[in-house]
Amino acid sequence: MTDAIIFKNVTKRYGTSTVLNHLNFTIKEGKITTILGFSGAGKSTMMKHILGLTIPTEGEIVSLGVNMSELDELGLREFRRNFGMVFQYAALFDNLTAYENVAFPLREFTKLKDAKIREKVDDLLEAVELVPESWHRLPSELSGGMRKRVGLARALALEPRVMLYDEPTSGLDPISTQVVCDLIVDTAKRNADKKLTSLIISHDVRASLRISDFIMFLERGSIVEYCTVEEFRQSNNPTIRRFLEL
Ligand SMILES: Nc1ncnc2c1ncn2[C@@H]1O[C@H](COP(=O)(O)OP(=O)(O)O)[C@@H](O)[C@H]1O
Ligand SMILES: [Mg+2]
Repeated sequence: MTDAIIFKNVTKRYGTSTVLNHLNFTIKEGKITTILGFSGAGKSTMMKHILGLTIPTEGEIVSLGVNMSELDELGLREFRRNFGMVFQYAALFDNLTAYENVAFPLREFTKLKDAKIREKVDDLLEAVELVPESWHRLPSELSGGMRKRVGLARALALEPRVMLYDEPTSGLDPISTQVVCDLIVDTAKRNADKKLTSLIISHDVRASLRISDFIMFLERGSIVEYCTVEEFRQSNNPTIRRFLEL
């Protein structure tokens, strides 16, 4: 298995508080990995490091074969195109239709001709199974689940190598949670030939166990456990047992 992301002895401090504490790990290419942990564990901070939105106080990060410390601002901006981001709230452009939301990154960042863009957007919206009646509606006219589909299609538009999902199921009812889980797994499967890596940040233990290959459990900036889902279920670590019983 190839490594998509490598953390080498990464520490992040804000003043005197250590938010990430000497982290060494790799995220496997083509797999679904979930970073689990209570609020304040350092999950979002880890994500920001992966995107180069913040830099480690110590240590280094090699992401998709690139040493992040060697990239300047422009290099970082280019580099971030390898990542598709799906936010907790779909974060769509309110004044653009579903269709135009998905077309946006293609218009903005590629030189594709209109006909080619239309073809791609059609494919993306079909892949996430958004019903065609909704394609030309504004986000405010869509249900929460539909907005998620549009957000996912938009994140996939530039054919990212890594999909990042920040709290994809929090605040959702059980049925919507199931839909989002299925979408994440389907997306990973559909792009398995391209070895799409999926990285999820979550505190939803049930959903995470259902869809992940690997689970990392983070507590106060340290890795408590990083293993397969099966191993995680059987962990004897008291914090993890407590988490599993929530
Ligand atoms: N820019 C910052 N400055 C100071 N402290 C921060 C900053 N960002 C995060 N922290 C602190 O780092 C810890 C981890 O935060 P975060 O990564 O957001 O955790 P999580 O996403 O797991 O809830 C928290 O205690 C938070 O207050
Ligand atoms: Mg967070």
